[in-house]
Amino acid sequence: MSSENKKAEKIIVTSALPYANGPIHLGHIAGAYLPADIFVRYHRLKGSDIVFVCGSDEHGVPITLRAEMEGITPQDVVDKYHEMNKKSFERIGISFDNFSRTTLPLHHETSQDFFTKIHDKNFLKKKVDIQFFCPQCKRFLADRFVEGKCPNCGSFGARGDQCEKCGTWLDPAKLIEPKCKLCGTTPVAKETEHYYIPLGDFQSKLEKWILKKDDWKDNVVNYCKGWFDQGLEDRAVTRDLDWGIPVPLDDLKNKVLYVWFDAPIGYISSTKEWAIKQGEPDKWKEYWCNPDAKLYHFIGKDNIVFHALFFPAILMAYGGYNLPENVVANEFLNIESRKISTSQNYAIWLDDYLDKYPVDPLRYCLAAISPESKDSDFSWVDFQARNNNELADILGNFINRTLVFICEKFEGRIPEPGGLSEADKDILARTNAGLDSLTENIEKFHVKSALSDLMGIARSANKYFNDNEPWVTIKKDRTKCANTLYTSAQIIKKLTLGMSPFLPFTSEKLRNILNIQSEFENGNWEEIKNKLLDEGSPVSKPEILFHKFDDKVIQKEIDALKSKVENAIENNGNEVPDKQEKTVEDISIDDFRKLDLRVAKIKSVSRVPNTDKLMKLEIDDGDDVRFIVSGIAEHYDEQDLVGNSIILLANLKPAKIRGEVSNGMLLAAEEGGDLALLKTDKEMKPGSRIT
Ligand code: 2FM
Ligand code: ZN
Repeated sequence: MSSENKKAEKIIVTSALPYANGPIHLGHIAGAYLPADIFVRYHRLKGSDIVFVCGSDEHGVPITLRAEMEGITPQDVVDKYHEMNKKSFERIGISFDNFSRTTLPLHHETSQDFFTKIHDKNFLKKKVDIQFFCPQCKRFLADRFVEGKCPNCGSFGARGDQCEKCGTWLDPAKLIEPKCKLCGTTPVAKETEHYYIPLGDFQSKLEKWILKKDDWKDNVVNYCKGWFDQGLEDRAVTRDLDWGIPVPLDDLKNKVLYVWFDAPIGYISSTKEWAIKQGEPDKWKEYWCNPDAKLYHFIGKDNIVFHALFFPAILMAYGGYNLPENVVANEFLNIESRKISTSQNYAIWLDDYLDKYPVDPLRYCLAAISPESKDSDFSWVDFQARNNNELADILGNFINRTLVFICEKFEGRIPEPGGLSEADKDILARTNAGLDSLTENIEKFHVKSALSDLMGIARSANKYFNDNEPWVTIKKDRTKCANTLYTSAQIIKKLTLGMSPFLPFTSEKLRNILNIQSEFENGNWEEIKNKLLDEGSPVSKPEILFHKFDDKVIQKEIDALKSKVENAIENNGNEVPDKQEKTVEDISIDDFRKLDLRVAKIKSVSRVPNTDKLMKLEIDDGDDVRFIVSGIAEHYDEQDLVGNSIILLANLKPAKIRGEVSNGMLLAAEEGGDLALLKTDKEMKPGSRIT
């Protein structure tokens, strides 16, 4: 944080407070935490005056249910999981400035003050209403204490507060065929008195505010429009529970505040706690009540209604607070094409991963598949490919080969350049442009595109290194070689900066290797980007930054997940983790441009011996003649193919197929086992690019 900088943008970032009722899994990280951390880490380096807060959500039925299941007290539950989750976040490098808890007296006071003030300003209505009561357990079934059929989508297993299937925020009293979650008894309807916030009174203000937002994600705006169309209703802000923040009024003794009333206020009390720790107890106001400051909430999509409508209505009622500048809601992460289910233990628990494997590859993979606009899927094979083919083979390889070369041939010092060539200057300019695009994407919450900018830089850098052949020039033209290594070292420094929001631990290692730690501590993004490493400055011996994952390790993880599904089927036939349709991810135009698609002409064809399906094609790609192996033998005869033009994916990595090396892939359309080769609709020269 650089609070000295008067002009620095003031920003408060929040990530959804996780319930302290269980450990953190990859779905949590991909949704509300990693995207926020990337945004915050970038802003810190940019010099923004930014505070990142979170904490444990320690009230509500999720906590009491867990306590009943484990046979311990709610306090025991939250003490256990608060500590556990705080450590997990630290381990994966989610860099909160403060991680608080909602059982702190400071939070109770803050929440009660909100309730009292809103009550005193006559924004709350007291009403008697009907709620479910379990005659067996002798208690009102608030929120998740009751389950039944969703009144909105009709699916079973909807919880009193929310239907997991359709995501609707429910009124527990409206559940169809309700059952007590603990004993299965059908509850009876019973009168009870509560305070309600009449959200309808805030609808026009909320609508005006949200419909003006042109930079909010579609999922958030559309969701809110759906609510507006239905018309906002009164919502109870108190509950008949004995675990929670006592209602600060004498007329409703033994009732507590609704957990969704107090949890978002937890962002404010966490900032208050942070300010106290800074020795400036009033400093929190600079971020929450100063109209120049900006508030960003990072959440999962199931929390949209609370952050875009319910909490803003509470803030409006209280007065004097900023409304969120943006509510960055991410969709869900599936695992191996199935929905994560904590109750069925179908998840990858963060600590399990971190106990075995390094942290940055996980951050990388989760950022690369960030569920920004639709649900995404984590698969171990994809994780392995991203680690091995991208982190190790592209990013790690470029850095390693450059640093090893400098250590071996230039005594471990940045070489002295002798007048950079156009190619050297060009790659440096392109690297800077890549970094500019990366920052622009982070500012727009486009994590995937930002990461692809980073890898674009590394890809071009590898190509530059190859094209300039320093292993040849070292023998013939030492100045040119020095220029190549000088330029490559500068790119490593820029990569060290660009990777820091995504791969902070690797960035840290590189800062030490390049001896630029202090520059990162004292400078800002632009300065660091533009300042070149001094010639002659020492670099330390590199270590391998990314180790490859072996097939056996990956298979073991896949098998472990499979056996979780099998166990679920055995134990509870109809409640296996939902299978999700595989979704095709959106790619950017830059991703598309990475494909070298071109017209190629078939010169000769032969069948691959001892196979039914494979043909070996000799093709003219415009630059050269190459061979590809393709599974088209059941669909075409040799004589139908020779002389034809096809569409070739020319930059696919060579692969060995039945002993034959295939250099690329031809494109074909497939339908019900039939196959048709793609062609242009008029004759084009070999080498013509597909754009
Ligand atoms: O859905 C959840 O896990 C909630 N504990 C999130 C709370 S977010 C905020 F409002 F505190
Ligand atoms: Zn019951």
